[in-house]
Amino acid sequence: MEIRNLVRSFGGRRVVDGVSLSIQPGQVTCLLGPSGCGKSTTLRIIAGVEMQDSGEIHVDGSLICDTRFRVPPERREIGLMFQDFALFPHLSVEGNVAYGLSGNRDEKRARVEEMLDRVRMSRFIDMFPHQLSGGEQQRIALARALAPRPRIMLMDEPFSGLDNRLRDGIRDETLAILKEEDTGVLLVTHEPEEAMRMADEIALMRNGRIVQQGAPYNVYTRPVDRASVAFFSDANRFGAVVDGALAVTPFGPFLAPGVADGTLVDIVFRPQHVKIDFDRAGVGPAPTAIEGTAARAQVIRARFMGNESLVEFRLDDSGALIKSTVPGVFLPQPQTVMWLRVRRDKCYVFPRQEVAE
Ligand SMILES: Nc1ncnc2c1ncn2[C@@H]1O[C@H](COP(=O)(O)OP(=O)(O)OP(=O)(O)O)[C@@H](O)[C@H]1O
Ligand SMILES: [Mg+2]
Repeated sequence: MEIRNLVRSFGGRRVVDGVSLSIQPGQVTCLLGPSGCGKSTTLRIIAGVEMQDSGEIHVDGSLICDTRFRVPPERREIGLMFQDFALFPHLSVEGNVAYGLSGNRDEKRARVEEMLDRVRMSRFIDMFPHQLSGGEQQRIALARALAPRPRIMLMDEPFSGLDNRLRDGIRDETLAILKEEDTGVLLVTHEPEEAMRMADEIALMRNGRIVQQGAPYNVYTRPVDRASVAFFSDANRFGAVVDGALAVTPFGPFLAPGVADGTLVDIVFRPQHVKIDFDRAGVGPAPTAIEGTAARAQVIRARFMGNESLVEFRLDDSGALIKSTVPGVFLPQPQTVMWLRVRRDKCYVFPRQEVAE
């Protein structure tokens, strides 16, 4: 499926502002972004239940929808799974899964049994939705959506109603089934972790636009701006003014190639990339090309988070606060003097811009 330049405005505001995407068979593309950025609207346009102001959608090279021509939703071979996946309460599990199927009774029954087997719900075939738990209902909803063999599955925060442990299991099972069926998936979520876990490709969306697209590793490690770093994890940042293509900071100089002198830049890095050294009689580690200069800092507080410890520092030099995370237990006393470094390849330098996050 190729989505080209979708635009949709409500009351003069472009809620979807030129979105282009492609969805491949057997691949999961995640539309990831903060609440209100236009994800569900994009999905509804693709499903055919919302109209775009402009833009086109093609499947296998043929047009299914532009501003004049529309294949109706039920003929798009698209499966839908939304957060409120509402099963039909008056239909049994069998009736629900058979709902979108064509063919004679035996053929339908065979496909229903096959799908229930897939989601390991065969013994529930004669039950009604109110007799099932949330997780069980979700699996039936998945079976129902996949039974007619859609070529593309649109999923809008489909796992958000489940508790954490159940969610991980159902998420992984769902993914396995979708891959087996070779279905192309567009999954909407506002949770980076869910996107990293599920996606082959992440399209990061903000204010109606896709700001970055690529494999999860690339989107995470090569963010396009500060907001993109901060969307995936906590981020440290401090400002510095560029002079002679260098931004000088308490951590030593940072290269800022192509940035004009006098420009204010943000140096941004994640807490897990702060390297901590003990103070040795007032001396820190020697500067290196990779790790720059160590900056002297004092512990403000340290907290144990389970997998890691979160230690907050104040830099002696600028007074800036720096958050760091350390695997396991590391709980230095407040006011302990330590030396902090950040690897240059883990830092991002962006000209400062105030963007809505
Ligand atoms: N039919 C409508 N009329 C007016 N405004 C709308 C309509 N549908 C959506 N909007 C507005 O468009 C914006 C984007 O909505 P959308 O549901 O696409 O966001 P989202 O990215 O899915 O957010 P969330 O993560 O909270 O579900 C919101 O500000 C919403 O209020
Ligand atoms: Mg939404």
